[in-house]
Amino acid sequence: MTKRSIIDVPDLSLPELDRLMDTAEDIIARPDDYADACRRKKLATLFFEPSTRTRLSFEAAMYELGGNVLSVTGAATSSAAKGESVADTAKTVSCYADIIAMRHPKEGAALVAARNASVPVINAGDGGHCHPTQTLADLLTIRREKGRLDRVTVGLCGDLKFGRTVHSLIGALSRYAGLRFVLVSPEELKVPSYVKNEHLKKNGIPYLQTTDLEEVIGDLDILYMTRVQRERFFNEEDYLRLRDSYILTPEKLKKARKDLCVMHPLPRVNEISVAVDDDPRACYFKQVLNGKYMRMALILMLLREAGKL
Ligand code: CP
Repeated sequence: MTKRSIIDVPDLSLPELDRLMDTAEDIIARPDDYADACRRKKLATLFFEPSTRTRLSFEAAMYELGGNVLSVTGAATSSAAKGESVADTAKTVSCYADIIAMRHPKEGAALVAARNASVPVINAGDGGHCHPTQTLADLLTIRREKGRLDRVTVGLCGDLKFGRTVHSLIGALSRYAGLRFVLVSPEELKVPSYVKNEHLKKNGIPYLQTTDLEEVIGDLDILYMTRVQRERFFNEEDYLRLRDSYILTPEKLKKARKDLCVMHPLPRVNEISVAVDDDPRACYFKQVLNGKYMRMALILMLLREAGKL
Protein backbone atom coordinates (compact mmCIF):
# COMPACT_ATOMS: atom_id res chain seq x y z
CA MET A 1 0.00 0.00 0.00
CA THR A 2 1.40 3.37 -0.97
CA LYS A 3 0.23 6.88 -0.37
CA ARG A 4 0.85 8.46 -3.72
CA SER A 5 0.20 12.08 -4.65
CA ILE A 6 -0.14 13.55 -8.12
CA ILE A 7 1.61 16.88 -8.56
CA ASP A 8 2.09 16.81 -12.33
CA VAL A 9 1.34 14.45 -15.20
CA PRO A 10 4.83 12.87 -15.30
CA ASP A 11 3.92 11.35 -11.91
CA LEU A 12 1.82 8.97 -14.02
CA SER A 13 3.38 6.50 -16.46
CA LEU A 14 1.96 6.04 -19.95
CA PRO A 15 0.39 2.65 -19.01
CA GLU A 16 -1.20 4.34 -15.98
CA LEU A 17 -2.59 7.12 -18.18
CA ASP A 18 -4.04 4.47 -20.49
CA ARG A 19 -5.58 2.63 -17.54
CA LEU A 20 -7.10 5.85 -16.18
CA MET A 21 -8.66 6.60 -19.57
CA ASP A 22 -9.93 3.00 -19.81
CA THR A 23 -11.47 3.31 -16.33
CA ALA A 24 -13.08 6.62 -17.31
CA GLU A 25 -14.55 4.95 -20.42
CA ASP A 26 -15.87 2.14 -18.24
CA ILE A 27 -17.45 4.63 -15.82
CA ILE A 28 -19.11 6.37 -18.77
CA ALA A 29 -20.46 3.04 -20.03
CA ARG A 30 -21.45 1.56 -16.62
CA PRO A 31 -21.92 4.36 -14.03
CA ASP A 32 -24.03 2.17 -11.74
CA ASP A 33 -21.09 -0.21 -11.22
CA TYR A 34 -19.20 2.65 -9.54
CA ALA A 35 -22.04 4.24 -7.57
CA ASP A 36 -20.85 2.75 -4.27
CA ALA A 37 -17.13 2.43 -4.94
CA CYS A 38 -16.06 5.09 -2.41
CA ARG A 39 -18.77 4.62 0.20
CA ARG A 40 -17.80 6.20 3.56
CA LYS A 41 -14.69 7.81 2.03
CA LYS A 42 -14.13 11.55 2.16
CA LEU A 43 -12.52 13.90 -0.32
CA ALA A 44 -11.35 17.30 0.96
CA THR A 45 -11.32 20.02 -1.69
CA LEU A 46 -9.03 22.83 -0.54
CA PHE A 47 -9.34 25.68 -3.01
CA PHE A 48 -7.36 28.80 -2.15
CA GLU A 49 -7.98 30.22 -5.64
CA PRO A 50 -11.25 30.60 -7.59
CA SER A 51 -12.58 27.62 -9.52
CA THR A 52 -15.83 26.39 -11.03
CA ARG A 53 -14.96 23.28 -13.06
CA THR A 54 -12.13 21.73 -11.10
CA ARG A 55 -13.67 21.98 -7.66
CA LEU A 56 -17.19 21.06 -8.70
CA SER A 57 -16.03 18.20 -10.92
CA PHE A 58 -13.91 16.76 -8.10
CA GLU A 59 -16.91 17.02 -5.80
CA ALA A 60 -19.33 15.59 -8.37
CA ALA A 61 -16.80 12.80 -9.00
CA MET A 62 -16.68 11.85 -5.32
CA TYR A 63 -20.47 11.99 -4.95
CA GLU A 64 -20.92 9.80 -8.05
CA LEU A 65 -18.54 7.29 -6.46
CA GLY A 66 -20.76 7.21 -3.37
CA GLY A 67 -18.33 9.18 -1.20
CA ASN A 68 -18.55 12.46 0.70
CA VAL A 69 -16.89 15.84 0.37
CA LEU A 70 -15.40 18.41 2.77
CA SER A 71 -14.69 21.76 1.19
CA VAL A 72 -12.66 24.92 1.74
CA THR A 73 -13.52 27.58 -0.79
CA GLY A 74 -11.15 30.53 -0.64
CA ALA A 75 -8.31 31.36 1.72
CA ALA A 76 -10.50 33.86 3.56
CA THR A 77 -12.77 31.15 4.99
CA SER A 78 -10.01 28.90 6.35
CA SER A 79 -7.25 29.32 8.91
CA ALA A 80 -4.89 30.21 6.04
CA ALA A 81 -6.32 33.71 6.67
CA LYS A 82 -4.80 33.53 10.18
CA GLY A 83 -1.42 32.59 8.77
CA GLU A 84 -1.57 28.78 8.93
CA SER A 85 1.01 27.16 6.65
CA VAL A 86 0.18 24.79 3.79
CA ALA A 87 2.11 22.07 5.65
CA ASP A 88 0.03 22.40 8.82
CA THR A 89 -3.19 22.59 6.78
CA ALA A 90 -2.26 19.35 5.01
CA LYS A 91 -1.44 17.56 8.28
CA THR A 92 -4.72 18.76 9.79
CA VAL A 93 -6.96 17.85 6.86
CA SER A 94 -5.35 14.38 6.74
CA CYS A 95 -7.06 13.76 10.10
CA TYR A 96 -10.48 14.25 8.50
CA ALA A 97 -10.27 13.15 4.87
CA ASP A 98 -9.05 10.11 2.90
CA ILE A 99 -7.80 12.15 -0.05
CA ILE A 100 -7.17 15.85 -0.78
CA ALA A 101 -7.52 17.93 -3.94
CA MET A 102 -5.83 21.31 -3.54
CA ARG A 103 -5.62 24.47 -5.64
CA HIS A 104 -3.27 27.21 -4.51
CA PRO A 105 -1.92 30.44 -6.06
CA LYS A 106 1.69 29.53 -5.23
CA GLU A 107 3.80 27.27 -7.44
CA GLY A 108 4.96 24.28 -5.41
CA ALA A 109 2.20 24.50 -2.78
CA ALA A 110 0.74 21.12 -3.79
CA LEU A 111 4.14 19.50 -3.39
CA VAL A 112 4.48 20.94 0.12
CA ALA A 113 1.00 19.64 0.95
CA ALA A 114 1.86 16.19 -0.44
CA ARG A 115 5.03 15.98 1.63
CA ASN A 116 3.14 16.76 4.82
CA ALA A 117 -0.20 15.00 4.32
CA SER A 118 -0.66 11.40 5.39
CA VAL A 119 -3.26 10.90 2.62
CA PRO A 120 -2.91 11.28 -1.19
CA VAL A 121 -2.86 14.85 -2.48
CA ILE A 122 -3.94 15.80 -5.99
CA ASN A 123 -2.70 19.10 -7.40
CA ALA A 124 -5.75 20.96 -8.69
CA GLY A 125 -3.56 23.80 -10.01
CA ASP A 126 -0.58 25.54 -8.38
CA GLY A 127 -0.02 29.09 -9.58
CA GLY A 128 1.32 29.24 -13.13
CA HIS A 129 3.04 25.87 -12.72
CA CYS A 130 0.79 22.97 -13.68
CA HIS A 131 -2.70 21.50 -13.61
CA PRO A 132 -2.49 17.74 -14.08
CA THR A 133 -6.16 16.82 -13.78
CA GLN A 134 -7.04 19.32 -16.51
CA THR A 135 -4.52 17.44 -18.63
CA LEU A 136 -6.25 14.15 -17.82
CA ALA A 137 -9.47 15.70 -19.14
CA ASP A 138 -7.61 16.94 -22.22
CA LEU A 139 -6.04 13.55 -22.97
CA LEU A 140 -9.35 11.72 -22.74
CA THR A 141 -10.95 14.34 -24.98
CA ILE A 142 -8.24 13.97 -27.63
CA ARG A 143 -8.40 10.17 -27.46
CA ARG A 144 -12.20 10.17 -27.78
CA GLU A 145 -12.28 12.76 -30.57
CA LYS A 146 -9.27 11.65 -32.65
CA GLY A 147 -9.08 7.98 -31.65
CA ARG A 148 -5.41 8.34 -30.76
CA LEU A 149 -2.90 10.39 -28.78
CA ASP A 150 0.06 9.96 -31.10
CA ARG A 151 0.61 11.42 -34.61
CA VAL A 152 -1.28 14.65 -33.98
CA THR A 153 -0.42 18.26 -34.73
CA VAL A 154 -1.42 20.30 -31.72
CA GLY A 155 -1.79 24.08 -31.86
CA LEU A 156 -1.63 25.85 -28.50
CA CYS A 157 -2.83 29.43 -28.69
CA GLY A 158 -2.96 32.39 -26.31
CA ASP A 159 -1.19 32.82 -23.00
CA LEU A 160 1.42 30.08 -23.21
CA LYS A 161 3.58 31.71 -20.55
CA PHE A 162 1.25 31.71 -17.55
CA GLY A 163 -1.21 29.04 -18.76
CA ARG A 164 -0.50 26.10 -16.45
CA THR A 165 -2.82 23.81 -18.42
CA VAL A 166 -0.58 24.33 -21.45
CA HIS A 167 2.57 23.43 -19.51
CA SER A 168 1.03 20.19 -18.21
CA LEU A 169 -0.41 19.28 -21.62
CA ILE A 170 2.93 19.75 -23.39
CA GLY A 171 4.58 17.54 -20.75
CA ALA A 172 1.98 14.82 -21.20
CA LEU A 173 1.76 14.78 -25.00
CA SER A 174 5.55 14.93 -25.40
CA ARG A 175 5.66 11.30 -24.33
CA TYR A 176 3.66 10.13 -27.36
CA ALA A 177 5.18 9.41 -30.76
CA GLY A 178 4.79 11.56 -33.85
CA LEU A 179 3.63 14.71 -32.05
CA ARG A 180 4.11 18.14 -33.52
CA PHE A 181 3.38 21.40 -31.70
CA VAL A 182 2.49 24.79 -33.12
CA LEU A 183 2.85 27.43 -30.40
CA VAL A 184 0.82 30.55 -31.16
CA SER A 185 1.22 33.49 -28.80
CA PRO A 186 2.22 37.13 -28.55
CA GLU A 187 6.00 37.56 -28.09
CA GLU A 188 5.47 38.39 -24.40
CA LEU A 189 3.47 35.22 -23.68
CA LYS A 190 5.62 32.49 -25.23
CA VAL A 191 6.05 29.05 -23.65
CA PRO A 192 8.72 29.37 -20.92
CA SER A 193 12.18 28.07 -21.84
CA TYR A 194 12.14 25.49 -19.05
CA VAL A 195 9.04 23.85 -20.55
CA LYS A 196 10.56 23.80 -24.05
CA ASN A 197 13.89 22.46 -22.79
CA GLU A 198 12.43 19.83 -20.49
CA HIS A 199 9.84 18.42 -22.88
CA LEU A 200 10.26 19.52 -26.48
CA LYS A 201 14.01 19.88 -26.98
CA LYS A 202 14.93 16.94 -24.74
CA ASN A 203 12.60 14.62 -26.66
CA GLY A 204 13.42 16.03 -30.10
CA ILE A 205 9.80 17.04 -30.69
CA PRO A 206 9.29 19.38 -33.64
CA TYR A 207 7.64 22.69 -32.83
CA LEU A 208 6.97 25.98 -34.53
CA GLN A 209 6.52 29.30 -32.71
CA THR A 210 4.42 31.97 -34.36
CA THR A 211 2.25 34.96 -33.57
CA ASP A 212 -0.16 34.31 -36.45
CA LEU A 213 -3.02 31.87 -35.83
CA GLU A 214 -4.66 32.23 -39.23
CA GLU A 215 -1.45 31.30 -41.03
CA VAL A 216 -1.26 27.90 -39.28
CA ILE A 217 -4.86 26.97 -38.42
CA GLY A 218 -5.23 24.79 -41.52
CA ASP A 219 -2.35 22.49 -40.40
CA LEU A 220 -3.85 21.56 -37.04
CA ASP A 221 -5.59 18.42 -35.73
CA ILE A 222 -6.15 20.07 -32.34
CA LEU A 223 -6.50 23.76 -31.55
CA TYR A 224 -6.17 24.39 -27.81
CA MET A 225 -7.21 27.99 -27.06
CA THR A 226 -6.33 29.59 -23.72
CA ARG A 227 -7.34 32.64 -21.74
CA VAL A 228 -4.83 35.41 -21.03
CA GLN A 229 -4.28 34.90 -17.30
CA ARG A 230 -5.07 38.32 -15.84
CA GLU A 231 -4.36 37.12 -12.27
CA ARG A 232 -0.72 36.35 -13.11
CA PHE A 233 0.11 39.73 -14.68
CA PHE A 234 2.11 42.30 -12.71
CA ASN A 235 0.77 45.13 -14.80
CA GLU A 236 -2.88 45.77 -15.79
CA GLU A 237 -1.79 47.78 -18.85
CA ASP A 238 0.01 44.76 -20.32
CA TYR A 239 -3.02 42.57 -19.66
CA LEU A 240 -5.36 45.00 -21.43
CA ARG A 241 -2.99 45.22 -24.41
CA LEU A 242 -2.68 41.44 -24.78
CA ARG A 243 -6.03 40.03 -23.67
CA ASP A 244 -7.70 40.03 -27.09
CA SER A 245 -4.68 38.88 -29.10
CA TYR A 246 -6.60 35.87 -30.44
CA ILE A 247 -10.34 35.51 -30.86
CA LEU A 248 -11.51 32.37 -32.64
CA THR A 249 -14.54 33.07 -34.84
CA PRO A 250 -16.57 31.03 -37.37
CA GLU A 251 -14.84 33.08 -40.09
CA LYS A 252 -11.37 31.98 -38.94
CA LEU A 253 -12.55 28.38 -38.65
CA LYS A 254 -13.33 28.34 -42.38
CA LYS A 255 -9.59 27.85 -42.96
CA ALA A 256 -9.41 24.90 -40.54
CA ARG A 257 -9.76 21.18 -41.22
CA LYS A 258 -13.22 19.66 -41.11
CA ASP A 259 -12.09 17.29 -38.35
CA LEU A 260 -10.29 19.90 -36.24
CA CYS A 261 -10.93 19.50 -32.52
CA VAL A 262 -11.24 22.91 -30.79
CA MET A 263 -10.41 22.73 -27.10
CA HIS A 264 -10.19 25.22 -24.22
CA PRO A 265 -9.69 24.46 -20.52
CA LEU A 266 -12.21 27.22 -19.72
CA PRO A 267 -13.19 29.65 -18.31
CA ARG A 268 -13.27 31.51 -21.61
CA VAL A 269 -13.36 35.27 -21.58
CA ASN A 270 -13.20 36.42 -25.18
CA GLU A 271 -10.89 33.89 -26.90
CA ILE A 272 -13.65 31.89 -28.58
CA SER A 273 -16.68 33.64 -29.97
CA VAL A 274 -19.91 32.07 -28.65
CA ALA A 275 -20.92 31.60 -32.30
CA VAL A 276 -18.28 28.84 -32.46
CA ASP A 277 -20.16 26.81 -29.82
CA ASP A 278 -22.56 25.42 -32.42
CA ASP A 279 -19.73 24.23 -34.67
CA PRO A 280 -19.36 20.41 -34.42
CA ARG A 281 -15.61 20.97 -34.00
CA ALA A 282 -16.15 22.75 -30.64
CA CYS A 283 -15.14 20.21 -27.98
CA TYR A 284 -14.65 22.36 -24.89
CA PHE A 285 -17.84 21.41 -23.08
CA LYS A 286 -17.15 17.72 -23.79
CA GLN A 287 -13.76 18.41 -22.16
CA VAL A 288 -15.55 19.63 -19.02
CA LEU A 289 -17.53 16.40 -18.75
CA ASN A 290 -14.50 14.22 -19.49
CA GLY A 291 -12.74 15.95 -16.58
CA LYS A 292 -15.27 14.58 -14.12
CA TYR A 293 -14.81 11.01 -15.37
CA MET A 294 -11.01 11.24 -15.28
CA ARG A 295 -11.12 12.65 -11.73
CA MET A 296 -13.35 9.71 -10.73
CA ALA A 297 -10.79 7.32 -12.22
CA LEU A 298 -7.92 9.08 -10.45
CA ILE A 299 -9.63 9.13 -7.04
CA LEU A 300 -10.32 5.40 -7.39
CA MET A 301 -6.73 4.63 -8.36
CA LEU A 302 -5.15 6.62 -5.52
CA LEU A 303 -7.53 5.32 -2.83
CA ARG A 304 -6.98 1.73 -4.01
CA GLU A 305 -3.19 2.19 -3.94
CA ALA A 306 -3.41 3.69 -0.46
CA GLY A 307 -5.29 0.60 0.70
CA LYS A 308 -8.42 2.59 1.49
CA LEU A 309 -10.74 0.68 -0.83
N1 CP B 1 -10.21 24.58 -16.22
C1 CP B 1 -10.24 25.00 -14.94
O1 CP B 1 -9.30 24.76 -14.15
O2 CP B 1 -11.38 25.67 -14.61
P1 CP B 1 -11.70 26.28 -13.17
O3 CP B 1 -10.69 27.36 -12.91
O4 CP B 1 -13.10 26.77 -13.24
O5 CP B 1 -11.52 25.16 -12.16
